[in-house]
Amino acid sequence: MLLPKARGELSEALYDALRSETGEVGSLHLQPTDGDDAQIALWAMYELHYAGFEDAGDEMEWHPDVLRLRRRLERDFEAELRARHTATTLDEPFAESLFSFIADHDGPSLAAYVQRKADREQVLELLRHRSIYHLKESDPIAWVVPRLPTAPKAALMELQFDEYGDGDPNRLHAHLFALGLEAAGLRPDLYAYIDDVPVEILELNNAMSLFGLHRRLRAAALGHLAAFEATSSLPSRRMAQGLARLELPPEMIAYYEEHVEADAVHEQLAVRTICGSLVAEEPQLVDDVVFGAFTCLDLEDRYAQRMLDEWAAA
Ligand SMILES: [Fe+2]
Ligand SMILES: [Fe+2]
Repeated sequence: MLLPKARGELSEALYDALRSETGEVGSLHLQPTDGDDAQIALWAMYELHYAGFEDAGDEMEWHPDVLRLRRRLERDFEAELRARHTATTLDEPFAESLFSFIADHDGPSLAAYVQRKADREQVLELLRHRSIYHLKESDPIAWVVPRLPTAPKAALMELQFDEYGDGDPNRLHAHLFALGLEAAGLRPDLYAYIDDVPVEILELNNAMSLFGLHRRLRAAALGHLAAFEATSSLPSRRMAQGLARLELPPEMIAYYEEHVEADAVHEQLAVRTICGSLVAEEPQLVDDVVFGAFTCLDLEDRYAQRMLDEWAAA
């Protein structure tokens, strides 16, 4: 996999630095051209911690200048995410209150659109966009495991064991998605479609890496996970129905069907056992759990709204 296309001056300068054989890093103090430029630069720097790029040296993952730039962009991004969130206090009991916070959030639904109205081209576009996350599904939350106390750590591993296929590589969720892409005539290789995704998809992915890679934000990572799992089962059923309506291949439908059942269990685990046991031990982390949950829902809304607007205008 090669570095994606630059989206402005800053990502251009960053890629030059990442490609430099000598580890010579020029000036990375530029301001991003726009949101796309900032988000693709951040995404590329995060990716150095996952699969990396063939045209970027492995050493660059921990290059101080790259880390300095990453920190600068992360500060702006986190400030933006926090500014969108209005602090909410959760009542007791915690789990019911977090469930209702998530359920009360009202946003546009891409799954409902796919279920009833979307055409084949629109669904394929969606799958290409979703491939950026689903091909590394659950990896960003894996960073959090060593940062947790005993009870939430055990519960998170129970959930992750499932996401990673219960010991069977053919059941790994990321692999199921790859099989679905291939059957649908799309490219199953990692980030094949990164140059086509809108900034909202980069933000969705970057928020998960931001929360996952900072111990300070571990509660936001788990809150994000809780909202993600708690808004997955019913939408996955709608997606499966929409895909069946459009006669997409069974492999792709199977990915979504798998999530109807799995995420009905995962939402209970994520909200009650993972987040619940974390805040029982560290009650001061409640606000960050809510911040993470809100961010998941809000970034999904932004992506859904963008796609629905684009399709309506087409
Ligand atoms: Fe999954
Ligand atoms: Fe799940």
